Amino acid sequence: MAKSKPRSKRPRPESESEPITAEGDMPQKRFYRSRAHCNPLSFNENFDYPTRPDLFDWTEDHYPNHPSLSPHDDTKPNDDVISTFHSLSSVRPNVLDIGCGFGGLTLALSPLLPHHTILGLEIRAKVTEYVRLRIVAHRKEHPGQYQNCSVMRTNAMKYLVNYFPGGSLDKIFFCFPDPHFKKKNHPRRIVSERLLTEYAYLLKPGGKLYCITDVKDLHDWHVEKCSAHPLFVGCSEEEMVADPCVELMRTETEEGKKVEREGRFGHDKYYMVYKRVDGNLESAVTAENFFETGQFGVEVFENEKRA
Ligand SMILES: C[S@@+](CC[C@H](N)C(=O)[O-])C[C@H]1O[C@@H](n2cnc3c(N)ncnc32)[C@H](O)[C@@H]1O
Repeated sequence: MAKSKPRSKRPRPESESEPITAEGDMPQKRFYRSRAHCNPLSFNENFDYPTRPDLFDWTEDHYPNHPSLSPHDDTKPNDDVISTFHSLSSVRPNVLDIGCGFGGLTLALSPLLPHHTILGLEIRAKVTEYVRLRIVAHRKEHPGQYQNCSVMRTNAMKYLVNYFPGGSLDKIFFCFPDPHFKKKNHPRRIVSERLLTEYAYLLKPGGKLYCITDVKDLHDWHVEKCSAHPLFVGCSEEEMVADPCVELMRTETEEGKKVEREGRFGHDKYYMVYKRVDGNLESAVTAENFFETGQFGVEVFENEKRA
């Protein structure tokens, strides 16, 4: 006899368009799970992006009550258009949590870095919506706080330069990125020679790039790629110990917590922090290395290179 399917515990929305969580309520993670992996190289559709970073207003959807926006004073005549423009354009993210997943680090960075503007970037629509609702709920629960963090759905392997000007970022985090184990999928990795050049372009000199993973092979890949890149230099153990962001990325991400709980690849977390050196970009991509393996997400096989 055929068994009837167990009933889903999820309260069914009356119509498909009805949101699962009311704005301001804390969302429940179980309603926002989606396929764990996607191919970031073939994920082209449905992304709006500005043609230039200065065309994007971050205050509208992301940081409407950012601490650096002075409260509107109704008693003064509204002739200060230029200063309003300047304060709007001064609000732009300078800390990115790339592949933020369910947003634990994005939220945890907000009180730690109150003078920074934090943005989680996530490719999966449902997961991004979960983080958005989580931030809205935190803002409601803690008035005046969490106004300097937000989340945006995008493919961070493709559109960063459309959103952020060169030299505008202080920190970029890559926490437990998808490992893409198979060699043929290595071009899907979010830390690569080509993308490191893009990250170096976006970071300020002295800005930091953080990587953490529980997959030793992936950590070795991060170390190999970052150490070989002429615009990055590794931080010393002392510098990493003194940096409170390192502790947060070890403890506050959902994946980091899962490693402690379940430890699918063991309970170790491997991390490294690199600093953007003060140099120019011209030496990073040259005519000689332009078509090398990993550049532009295209794998060039040895026999093709020789041909
Ligand atoms: C293994 S999860 C780690 C999530 C989170 N950083 C943590 O540690 O809990 C990797 C995340 O990166 C996201 N991701 C993968 N490729 C991406 C891309 N190209 N742009 C933005 N997000 C991406 C995935 O959807 C996934 O949520």
